Amino acid sequence: MRHLSVPSAQTQHWLEKCRSQHWSSAEAGITRLEGGRNAIPLNDSAPLESDSIWDKNPHVEIEIQSKGPTHWLEHLDEELVKSYSNDWPRSYEVQGDVLIVKIEEAVWEYGELIADSMLTQLPSIRLVCADLGVQGEFRVRNLHPLASRDGSLETRTRIRENGYHLWVDASTVYFSSRLSKERVETLATANRLRLQLNQPLVVCDPYAGVGPSMGALLSEPNLLSGYLVGDLNPHAVELLTQNLEYLSARRKGIEKSPPLELNPTEIHCRDALEWAMDSENHSSCDLLLVNLPHHSIAHIEALMPLLKRGQTSVLRGWAIIERLELENREQTILEAISKASGTIEEFTFKEVKGFSTTKIFMCFEAWLNLSA
Ligand SMILES: C[S@@+](CC[C@H](N)C(=O)[O-])C[C@H]1O[C@@H](n2cnc3c(N)ncnc32)[C@H](O)[C@@H]1O
Repeated sequence: MRHLSVPSAQTQHWLEKCRSQHWSSAEAGITRLEGGRNAIPLNDSAPLESDSIWDKNPHVEIEIQSKGPTHWLEHLDEELVKSYSNDWPRSYEVQGDVLIVKIEEAVWEYGELIADSMLTQLPSIRLVCADLGVQGEFRVRNLHPLASRDGSLETRTRIRENGYHLWVDASTVYFSSRLSKERVETLATANRLRLQLNQPLVVCDPYAGVGPSMGALLSEPNLLSGYLVGDLNPHAVELLTQNLEYLSARRKGIEKSPPLELNPTEIHCRDALEWAMDSENHSSCDLLLVNLPHHSIAHIEALMPLLKRGQTSVLRGWAIIERLELENREQTILEAISKASGTIEEFTFKEVKGFSTTKIFMCFEAWLNLSA
């Protein structure tokens, strides 16, 4: 294939020029040449070497290795692909070495074929499962295994997110990697609160799932002095316990000092609404996370006693609401805070993503002070 040979330092300039003119070829990458030069692959529409546009940079012929299929659909029969062109899955979710994909009724009979193609294309995937929707009170996914690389149908797997690892199991516990940015923002809020209070924080995450928020918070040196976490789903608590063991063991202190001792370190399998019924949990945390999006707002009032009194604390949560109800729902949150004799220092209620045609996924964050 014809390539343009340019000095390495000018590669970016020529690459941009070739791309903007549609002269570069996507069939090969840039090849490093001897003598500090790089070769940019050209397509047939690029001008001849003699053209002054090239600034006397020579053209060279380089044999290219075929890149092979770049999409799993390329492993299927071309005619078959054409006949169901609107029905093939367009996206999928990967959790560790498990791939989860929604399959339309029209191509359901090709489920195993789809899964085999995906295993061929994606070497890091061990198991491909069809997503049959969420089920039960814990809203976990009903997964149907389609094909496995090694015969194992185990859906429990380990993912990496924002630099830490977490055990997850999509068939028994809710987890969404799509919300990892929210965890980054929770960490930013916690860092700001720690700075303002000038002391490490106790966090309460009563709907913790497998503990992704704790992954972000515990990875930050000396941010936390303790945690109260839990979930009503026993499978979640099992994975949460395992994840917290790992996250605690790899905590770092600042410079050469050991990490701060954590106290409390409570993990419970219980209904979040019961937490505040134990007076020993009252006024115990600086940061309260409320992540039960269909019910978060309704639960706030019962959870407020968990926040410390006589200082700034933060209530941060996620809610799925009707777009038309935005103002009402905001009012409900503010009323719950006021009922707990809290004054608001700062409040945000931001859309994170659309959820359906009428519903939106929101994040609320209140910086408040509950009177002592
Ligand atoms: C949307 S998930 C959030 C999980 C986790 N915080 C995350 O970000 O991945 C909600 C979690 O709350 C748990 N849950 C549902 N009802 C609960 C309740 N009444 N009390 C405590 N946990 C509950 C579910 O099992 C689920 O793990």
